[in-house]
Amino acid sequence: MKIPQTKIDEISSSLDIVDVISAYTPLRKAGRSFMGRCPFHEEKTPSFSVSQEKGVYHCFGCGKSGNMFTFIMDTENMTFFDAVKLLADKANVTTEFEDEPYDPDKNKIELYYDINRKAGKYFYDKLMSREGAYAKEYLNERGLKDDTITKFGLGYSPRDKDALFREFENDFTTEDLQNAGVVLVLGAGEIRDRFRGRLMFPIFNESGKVVGFGGRRMYDEATEEAKYINSPETRIYNKSKTLYGLNFAKGPIKQKGFAILVEGYMDLISLYQNGIENVVASSGTSLTQLHTKILHRYTREVVVVYDADLAGQNASRRAIEILIENDISVSILELPFGDDPDTYIKKNGLSGFEHLLANRLSVIDYIAERYESDGKMNSPEGKTEFVREIIGLIAKMRDAIKRDFYVKGIAEKFSIYESIIRKELESVLKVKSRPQYNERELLNEKSAAPVKEKNTKFSAVELVLIRLLVDSDAQTKQMLMNELELDLVKNDTVRKIVNYLMMNIDSPEKLALNQLFTEFQDEEAKSVIGKSLLDDNYVMQAGKNRNYLNEAKQVLSQLKLTNIKNTIKEIEARIKSIDSTSPDILQLLTEQQTLRREQMQIENSMKSL
Ligand code: CTP
Ligand code: MN
Repeated sequence: MKIPQTKIDEISSSLDIVDVISAYTPLRKAGRSFMGRCPFHEEKTPSFSVSQEKGVYHCFGCGKSGNMFTFIMDTENMTFFDAVKLLADKANVTTEFEDEPYDPDKNKIELYYDINRKAGKYFYDKLMSREGAYAKEYLNERGLKDDTITKFGLGYSPRDKDALFREFENDFTTEDLQNAGVVLVLGAGEIRDRFRGRLMFPIFNESGKVVGFGGRRMYDEATEEAKYINSPETRIYNKSKTLYGLNFAKGPIKQKGFAILVEGYMDLISLYQNGIENVVASSGTSLTQLHTKILHRYTREVVVVYDADLAGQNASRRAIEILIENDISVSILELPFGDDPDTYIKKNGLSGFEHLLANRLSVIDYIAERYESDGKMNSPEGKTEFVREIIGLIAKMRDAIKRDFYVKGIAEKFSIYESIIRKELESVLKVKSRPQYNERELLNEKSAAPVKEKNTKFSAVELVLIRLLVDSDAQTKQMLMNELELDLVKNDTVRKIVNYLMMNIDSPEKLALNQLFTEFQDEEAKSVIGKSLLDDNYVMQAGKNRNYLNEAKQVLSQLKLTNIKNTIKEIEARIKSIDSTSPDILQLLTEQQTLRREQMQIENSMKSL
């Protein structure tokens, strides 16, 4: 029984939250909001605040937050459905919504999942039928076992122009089929299946739902037709967020401690069938920042295995950069020229692949090898170019300690003075972090201290971060998307919310306050949302001259600082806990020194913000 969003909007816009809540606890106007005693906990001084314009409440005492619907649910102990009914009555809004057409938004999404799932089933059945015999034979000839075909849900799309459409048209509207990505409506209103006569690879999202397809050409390798056709981006398929195979690889990645990144559907399936299960592919697009952010949730180490041709080399170079920028350690598995992971493992088996894996190259060695094979490593100019390229990559690493290790590594390996490399690196870093804005106002220490309240503990900076992700301008949001490392957000609830905001940053409707309260049901999350968006103590600069970008930079710096300080403390504790003659001491002291240096750098750069 789904309630359409339009109905909910109609109810909330015809009622005043202050009226609704006043029936339970008296409210008085105080500044921009209304205050009263909290109906959810015992208190003498009012700390319950209601924002009339935003339609939400938040208690600064117990942390409860929500909108008029959650208020009724909590005070009356009702389900969401009943709370909506009660308020609908109050608002004189009709409530025969049980059998009304569905919420245009939320339910469409379910519908698109449904269409894609059914299309997957349809293609699979076709593959297993007489019509798909040729395709089935092709797959078997390429070495895919029946179990594998079933596991990955491979299929076949008939060659007719609208076979799927005719099968589906009784159950779904043309528009829905089109929006789900399975049919095309041509200029003259002619309807066609998007995939015809192709081998079908369903694309799953992280939780294993079919969100789209890749369709491989089957007949006539010589035709002009694209080798692969992919589903378009839809409400449920965002290419830059979807990693093919992740639903299967999640467990194995955690277990092995690293992920293998390949280019193609067939590569992934072939490796999987041969026993390499911690593998993902960026399908239908090259690797994006968002892909890496998702991977980062599962692992900090990725082995790139792209095709051994020029295109593959260029693609790996880009992937390496993006991975490094996102704090993932990268190594490269090089295949013999002309091979891809699929052909290689078929020829050499699991043991052959594992041998290459054991001998994979570090980024430095990989790039050195490319320079060598281009004959560039023999001249001083070539070598200089090489070192510059490596330094450019090191500068992208966020972890100062790691940067330091790399600097030492190349100094040693290529007999270059460490100080020269360091100087070059510093000049690259300086260009990168040059402050662009000149407003003075530091987030002070006080606001970075944890806010303690019941069993929640989060820093004010984290709350400001949430507000900026929801409320700032496009440029600031983009900057945060590029620069923010989720790990720096220590509080689990805040991290969960920030993650959600980042994943949906391009759909503002999902970031609306009401929507957030619906999305996050647990009390702590609702409280964090309420506090960050409604409590003006968590606005760094109010008023007309607000500089969001500047605030965001301060927030990032502050998060980094807190992290560095904590690490320094941890190292201190470790130094105290180990034997003073241990050889590790020196290492720890060096780490600490590097961190202190970085701390100073950040503090200085904050002064100039
Ligand atoms: N790709 C694509 N569109 C194309 C070509 C390629 O989306 N026109 C994507 C597909 O995800 C494909 C991957 O890039 O899986 C790698 O392409 P390629 O190496 O050409 O294909 P393989 O996966 O190796 O397919 P096969 O082994 O069947 O040739
Ligand atoms: Mn291939």
